[in-house]
Amino acid sequence: MTKTKVGILFGGKSVEHDVSIISAQNIAKYIDTKKFEVTLLGIDKTGDWFLCNEVSKNISNGEPLHLTLKASGPSFRTSNRKVEVDVVFPVLHGTDGEDGSIQGLLQTANIPYVGSDILGSAVSMDKLTSKRILENAGVPVANYLTYTKKEVKDIDYDYVVSKLGSPFIIKPANLGSSVGVFKISKEEGFEEKLATLFGFDTIALVEEYIEGRELECAIIGNDNPKASPPGEIILKGDYEFYSFEAKYVDGDAVDLVIPAKVGASIEQRIKELSLQSYQATSCKDFARIDLFLRENGEIIVNEINTIPGFTNISMYPKLIGLLGIEYTDLITQLINMAILRHKELGRVTTSFESNL
Ligand SMILES: Nc1ncnc2c1ncn2[C@@H]1O[C@H](COP(=O)(O)OP(=O)(O)O)[C@@H](O)[C@H]1O
Ligand SMILES: [Mg+2]
Repeated sequence: MTKTKVGILFGGKSVEHDVSIISAQNIAKYIDTKKFEVTLLGIDKTGDWFLCNEVSKNISNGEPLHLTLKASGPSFRTSNRKVEVDVVFPVLHGTDGEDGSIQGLLQTANIPYVGSDILGSAVSMDKLTSKRILENAGVPVANYLTYTKKEVKDIDYDYVVSKLGSPFIIKPANLGSSVGVFKISKEEGFEEKLATLFGFDTIALVEEYIEGRELECAIIGNDNPKASPPGEIILKGDYEFYSFEAKYVDGDAVDLVIPAKVGASIEQRIKELSLQSYQATSCKDFARIDLFLRENGEIIVNEINTIPGFTNISMYPKLIGLLGIEYTDLITQLINMAILRHKELGRVTTSFESNL
């Protein structure tokens, strides 16, 4: 049996570069090598691509990669040979990886890839656009205001409090890993935090603060996607919210409770809202939906991650485990889904005869 050639794409010009490397190390470790032959495609922090021997921070030690765009068969190449890949698994988080841009590149090169396509990636990455779509689909989201960088002078603390209450949250529309996210409880320091946020993005979301439990739900599949039971993130210590430090730096910051201790009807509602969110935003293959649960049982969808973390401590693979799909099988299923979708797309007619 010939093995399917899988390109694991990792790193990237993103604040989540290092997280991507840890996720990709895991995928490279657990992928079924009886079925798949792995090629490692690294993107360094400046955005240069390399063919690598290992998943590590030393991406630029690899051989520089080029992309040829011949209509008969676009391909990756090094200076002297073609790099064969049947399918790419982008294990990139955040900017340029999860936002549709890499997906557009792979699509143009006619290379199948795991996960949401351009539309689903772009919509889910942009917290403002995804909120608007979710609202439209009847999915509850946190109340919000939005400002562009040019409008920064118009952001009035008292006005925000009158609309959203205090405390409130500010976050960049297009980022991840809690970078640029702040909980604001007083006017002092607000301007500086906004300035920091606008260093990362040109659009700010200002949201009501949701007092509640943080839950995550894993989705897998396309025609008949399945939702896992939710998992819960319980913050320990002094953290005000699930910050970058709590996520990646402080190993003792959180307890992951899998599955979350919620009643059957809450669990059912979380699954429904997560599936609804996945479908409304055109996600493909997999995604992790993050939600809040208020004490009164109200559920609010926070955000959609189209390439969730795959590290040893990541929620997504653990939640999928609750569906009876273990890590290696999960990777196999995702790759097979991507190949199948690409085949189906290939059946769509792309020419149209006319008299023009
Ligand atoms: N409206 C909100 N109410 C309460 N906490 C929030 C709210 N929005 C974000 N947070 C906190 O900030 C964290 C990061 O925000 P999130 O919107 O998930 O962005 P990111 O894409 O960076 O993960 C969340 O996990 C949560 O702890
Ligand atoms: Mg988040």
